[in-house]
Amino acid sequence: MVLQSHLKILINREQIAKAVTRLACEINRDYQGKEPLLIGILKGSCVFVADLIRQLDLPLELEFIKVSSYGAARESSGKVRVVQGLQTRIKGRDVLVVEDIVDTGITTSFLLDYLKKKRPASLKLCALTDKPSRRRVPVPIDYLGFTVPNKFIVGYGIDCDEKFRNLPHIYAIED
Ligand code: PRP
Repeated sequence: MVLQSHLKILINREQIAKAVTRLACEINRDYQGKEPLLIGILKGSCVFVADLIRQLDLPLELEFIKVSSYGAARESSGKVRVVQGLQTRIKGRDVLVVEDIVDTGITTSFLLDYLKKKRPASLKLCALTDKPSRRRVPVPIDYLGFTVPNKFIVGYGIDCDEKFRNLPHIYAIED
């Protein structure tokens, strides 16, 4: 069992806030004149997407989709399932997927393929964190907050066995 005493701050809340502001500036600039549909990937992206949209000065819409590949394990099972689908048609929309972490890339790659088949006008990815050392499937990240080392991270929406999503910083689990 992972206890809070096993956690060490990797990215503090001020650093996260600065990154969210930077990403929002880039998105505001790139989507001027558009009405993007943001799709948050549940559950991990919930805190990030909530902070991000409040800095977006665009007539955006927000949707959520839930996919799952990890279950209760720390390793990706490699099989991704859509657990809760979209409520909106995305054909012809400018879609921006919002993820908390791209790790092996299996989840996000599956999801981008799944969404692409629905023929959006454009499809981009905004990820708060990227762990390239673990990548098994290439994933193009259009807007990136942080590159993180090969450590299991939690906090700011990211869990370990459903715990620690509520912590304000991003922490690494120390062995
Ligand atoms: C996590 C995370 C990403 C995915 C990244 O989701 O939110 O969606 O794993 O891992 P990958 O790049 O190796 O596929 P998880 O399935 O743990 O669900 P959660 O967001 O509900 O925590």
